[in-house]
Amino acid sequence: MEFISPELQDYAEQHTSSESVLLRTINRDTHAHVLSPRMLSGHLQGRLLAMLSQMIRPKFVLELGTYTGYSALCLAEGIQDGGKLITIDVNEELEDKVSGYFKQSGLADKMDYRIGKATDIIPTLKEEFDLVFIDADKENYGHYFDLVFDKVRMGGIILADNVLWSGKVIAAKTDKDTRAILEFNTKIQQDSRVENVLLPVRDGIMMIRKVSL
Ligand SMILES: C[S@@+](CC[C@H](N)C(=O)[O-])C[C@H]1O[C@@H](n2cnc3c(N)ncnc32)[C@H](O)[C@@H]1O
Repeated sequence: MEFISPELQDYAEQHTSSESVLLRTINRDTHAHVLSPRMLSGHLQGRLLAMLSQMIRPKFVLELGTYTGYSALCLAEGIQDGGKLITIDVNEELEDKVSGYFKQSGLADKMDYRIGKATDIIPTLKEEFDLVFIDADKENYGHYFDLVFDKVRMGGIILADNVLWSGKVIAAKTDKDTRAILEFNTKIQQDSRVENVLLPVRDGIMMIRKVSL
């Protein structure tokens, strides 16, 4: 389900800074050659992630769900010198493709790409994160939030993608992933340690700011 018409989506993209040549290549190549290309953040959401990263100027960024590396490169745009982005994905089949894109990006020294389950890798991380992007398997969203919360600095931002889940969050019938998203959205709304805004951008982004321990 699209929340705005294709014409309005086109208009919004035409009035948004362009994707870089590499990001456009990743976008096209993913749509042409990779399964489930709708998972890629895309032009508008990618520029939003890049803009937020430029505003926050993070030292450490964590991404759960690399896929073809599109959002990782957007989130890396604002990283301070000496900082890095750790991005985790369980799918090793895309490793060569993604590593190639990171090398071409000129940001390779900032990209720390890990293959494995996010639930196994997050507990091993020692960094204090300024920005986290949760975009992996939906049924673990609540668990990911709990795992990363203490690793986010006070005032740090957690973004969670797909929180409108193609509109299924207000449908009468629910499936397993929809129930997980509904539980996640309720959990965030009821958590007094955070401030949050559900942005109806693309498939819905929950923007969360840590305001207390
Ligand atoms: C929606 S895609 C990520 C899209 C990417 N962030 C972007 O915007 O271009 C979700 C990714 O999460 C990965 N994933 C699923 N379960 C995972 C898990 N348990 N641990 C780590 N990654 C996982 C999938 O392999 C998939 O590549």
